[in-house]
Amino acid sequence: MKIMVIGGGGREHAIIKKLRQSPKITEIYALPGNGGIAQDAVCTGIGAKDIPEIVNFAKNNSIDFAVVAPDDPLVLGAVDELEKIGVPCFGPDKNAAVIEGSKVFSKDLMKKYGIPTAKYEVFTDMQKALAYLDTAPIPTVVKADGLALGKGVIIAATRDEAKGAVRSMMEDKVFGESGSQIVIEEFLEGPEVSVLTFTDGNTLVPMVSSMDHKRARDNDEGLNTGGMGTVAPNPYYTDEIAKECMEKIFLPTIKAMNAENRTFKGCLYFGLMLTKDGPKVIEYNCRFGDPETQVVLPLLESDLFEIMQAVRNGMLSETEVKFSSGSACCVIMASDGYPEKYEKGFEISLPSPEPAGTEIYVAGAKLEGGKLLTNGGRVLGVTAKSDDLKSAINKAYEAVKLVHFKNAFYRTDIGQRALKAFKKEV
Ligand code: AMP
Ligand code: GLY
Repeated sequence: MKIMVIGGGGREHAIIKKLRQSPKITEIYALPGNGGIAQDAVCTGIGAKDIPEIVNFAKNNSIDFAVVAPDDPLVLGAVDELEKIGVPCFGPDKNAAVIEGSKVFSKDLMKKYGIPTAKYEVFTDMQKALAYLDTAPIPTVVKADGLALGKGVIIAATRDEAKGAVRSMMEDKVFGESGSQIVIEEFLEGPEVSVLTFTDGNTLVPMVSSMDHKRARDNDEGLNTGGMGTVAPNPYYTDEIAKECMEKIFLPTIKAMNAENRTFKGCLYFGLMLTKDGPKVIEYNCRFGDPETQVVLPLLESDLFEIMQAVRNGMLSETEVKFSSGSACCVIMASDGYPEKYEKGFEISLPSPEPAGTEIYVAGAKLEGGKLLTNGGRVLGVTAKSDDLKSAINKAYEAVKLVHFKNAFYRTDIGQRALKAFKKEV
């Protein structure tokens, strides 16, 4: 079967490498893909948001199945358009992708259906938002309603900072129309857990849990980034908490979406905070996380393509979804200066073959004259898996030493917080 995968980052590389293990798949196209993905799929250069071109490509190349991975095309309705011309897709339609596309929608959904989340207020009028901040509890969290390249969340430690965030979103429109409505919510505390799930709208199967490391520097210092590394499983996510999340959060969410006539099919990502009052939803994403996917999919033992087809066809309850009992660690190698200014165009040298039990997922790189050159902030992720977390971490860092490019920068403490949590448990 001929498959196309929309997207071109490390997450998509991980999806593509996993799909390649499926015996049913003969060809994989990436739209647009990247210089590293080109090793594993035919890269087309068609942008992930260019829905008319994506649809044309599917038609002209007799595509049998499409995986829409990033938030933008999902929220823009790529799945709706592809399904219209008869291409089955993995991913929610536009109606359901709103669970990520609008924070106001997701907060109102949780309130209406009693799903635990931070308390919040919605504002469309800047003066009212500013007045509210005169008395709101501090710290507080200001969120742009729409997609904002992962930057639309400001944790404000002071009233002035919160007001500045409101002004930049509503007056200066730094996130465009995404900031014309905002949410101001209660600041929650506790360990964070990412849980990606497969759901066909009736059955929901959680994948192995994971832990992201969002800050740029060691010890969780520096600016927020798209994610500098991940580990799976997340030690804070015990079986007991998993059960509670299933009962109070996961199943109520898919039922709520059904009740709203917005049945969600695809990967529903729960960003959770384990507060002293129990697990609460920080955010929903309508897609696989990046770089969570880079530790979750290597631990998947079942056929990803079969699962994706079952999700699309409402057959998930009859399909095996099995994860290994091991651990995985992904270290992101970025360009120095990320997430602010950085240089591009440096040659990347990769170990060939990859050391046993490790995978390199390329995110920001392009091929030029046969050379792989850096072309983004997050350049690639090095994932290693092993029987236990400690050896997965060591193995990942051993492999990192075999990757070279000028100005490479990475955190040296990915997984350390998780290791400490394991020790506390014992
Ligand atoms: P996002 O960009 O939506 O992934 O959110 C970025 C990060 O902001 C999350 O991973 C949390 O660490 C943090 N965050 C979001 N909402 C809250 C909240 N209500 N309380 C505390 N931290 C939050
Ligand atoms: N790693 C967080 C996200 O994908 O949104």
